[in-house]
This record gives sequence, C-alpha cells and structure tokens, in this order.
Amino acid sequence: MKRIIVAIDGFSSCGKSTIAKQLAEYAHYTYVDTGAMYRAFALAVKRGLVKEPIESIPADLSITFLKTDHGQHVCLNGEDVEGLIRTLEIGNMASEISTIGLVRRFLVAQQQQMGQEKGIVMDGRDIGTVVFPEAELKLFLTASPEIRAQRRFLELKDKGEEPLFEEVLRDVNDRDYRDTHRQESPLRQAPDAIVIDNSELSKEEQMEKIINIFLQHIQ
Ligand code: DC
Repeated sequence: MKRIIVAIDGFSSCGKSTIAKQLAEYAHYTYVDTGAMYRAFALAVKRGLVKEPIESIPADLSITFLKTDHGQHVCLNGEDVEGLIRTLEIGNMASEISTIGLVRRFLVAQQQQMGQEKGIVMDGRDIGTVVFPEAELKLFLTASPEIRAQRRFLELKDKGEEPLFEEVLRDVNDRDYRDTHRQESPLRQAPDAIVIDNSELSKEEQMEKIINIFLQHIQ
C-alpha cells in the first residue's frame, strides 16, 4: 500500500484537527496542525519577537513540533507553547497575521519540508491548494456557522473561559470572512477536493466515512 499526503482544509472550528489526528493515528502517519504554526507565530508577535509591521522574520525564529504523551505540541523557539495558543485573542491575531505573504511563505516552506517523505496528514486552509496541490487525497470539511460556534463555545468553556455565544458566532463569521477574502492564499476548495459537511454527522460517522475514502486512495 502506498504512503500518501492527506490535505485537510476547511473553515475554523469544523473539527479538522480531531479528524486529522484520528486519521493520522489510524494510518500511522505524522499529523501536522498548520493552524498551530500560525498561532505560534502570532504569539511570537505578541511577545515582540517579531516586530510590527512585519517586514522581516528573525533568522533564529523557530516553530517546531514536539511529540508528547498528550499528542503533538507546538514549540516557539524551543518552548512548548501549546497551552498558550488556543485562546480567542491568539486565534484572532493568527487570522490577521496569516494574511501577510511573508508569514505565509515562511510557514508554507516548513510545511512542504515536513511532507517530503509523505505519510502525512496536514490540516489548515491552503493545504490542498498551495502547500500540497499534488496531494493524493484532499478533504474539505464544512459545517454551518451556528454549529461551529456552538462547538467552539463548549471548547472555550471547557478551558475555563467565559465566552458569550453571540460573540463566538460573530468571531466564527468574521474569521470565515477573513479566511476566504484575503489576497494571499484565501481559503478555497481545491477542485479535486472531496467535500464533507459534518453538520449532521456524528464524530463516528464522519470518521468511518473518511477512513473508507482514505482506504480507496492508498490502493
Ligand atoms: O485552524 P486554526 O483556527 O488554529 O487557525 C488559526 C488561524 O490561522 C486561522 O484564522 C487561519 C490561519 N491559518 C491559515 O491561514 N492557514 C493555515 N494553513 C492554517 C491556519
């Protein structure tokens, strides 16, 4: 059976990372959460490691992944920052800095490097269109904004934040708008992507569907 590249794109809070992680585990592939890379970059900006307006990137800025017992953690200059990047603030900053070509080129080059050996599941917004346009399997996940806001709302509450549903929904809509309307690599469905709307699917149903599609693609 061949080892392939699986590109998973879609709107924010569509459950991309859960699916990508589970598929990578099932296939014994490496999982790469590219959103975490944009978030770690946003944290670098917040910490003043990258100066604004962003016109250059320090040569020693490093964004890497570390395998831990609790899954893969993103590191900024060697520090595990996984616990600091999943907030609304960093999410919004990541969405803003991800519109900058220089930032995208910096992160895309690293992502392409990670896929050289294949056997990878990568999720993001531009994986099937820009990072790996030649990926053997491209999935595009989608769900209604209300359902995604509800999922995000529960996730934030679980983390001890006290979000307002209307605010989370507004945030989901704003992010969708920015992600699809930016000039640099806007979120688009690759023409050869398989679209999965998971609004009405349970996690198990979705996973079963995706594993079947994956198995057809590695023959
Ligand atoms: O998937 P996420 O919410 O963790 O991503 C955070 C932000 O990063 C999101 O608003 C869009 C951006 N992003 C991107 O532009 N390209 C990617 N490949 C991944 C994320």
